[in-house]
Amino acid sequence: MIRIIVSRLVRVAALTAVLVFTGCGDGATGGAAGESAAAHPGEQTYNRFCFSCHQGGIAGAPRFGDAEAWAPRIAKGSELLLANTKTGITPGMPAMGLCNSCTEQDLIDVIDFMVQAATPVSGPQ
Ligand code: HEC
Repeated sequence: MIRIIVSRLVRVAALTAVLVFTGCGDGATGGAAGESAAAHPGEQTYNRFCFSCHQGGIAGAPRFGDAEAWAPRIAKGSELLLANTKTGITPGMPAMGLCNSCTEQDLIDVIDFMVQAATPVSGPQ
């Protein structure tokens, strides 16, 4: 009899713990949903086309989020980066970053996404 009561108490305690934990989980989920709603407009293009080279720095590509690798490129200014992305840079960087369906605005967005990720302190925007 006592054992049954004890086991019930344990179960209630466990349930309470689960509820408290789930409460925290809900908060975290809300935050994550907020983040994805505020996702950068260039993120999808990056993940589809630019990721393959820029994530790991393949063939000398400036790595995603690598402030040092990006600094001299960012210094060129966004117009030159856009022009170089359109034409490509022989031999490693293909024209349009392989995103032939990208509009100019798509490229502007995805370059901005990469530049922002490599800017240590959030920039003037
Ligand atoms: C096949 C591999 C590859 C893919 C895919 C790729 N890149 Fe690159 N990217 C490179 C390499 C390599 C460089 C370095 C070129 C150099 O400086 O010689 C580079 C450089 C760049 C630069 C710097 C240009 C400059 O003037 O310094 C930008 C911006 C860039 N890529 C944007 C993109 C975007 C945007 C995409 C996707 C739409 C993309 N890249 C896809 C390989 C790639």
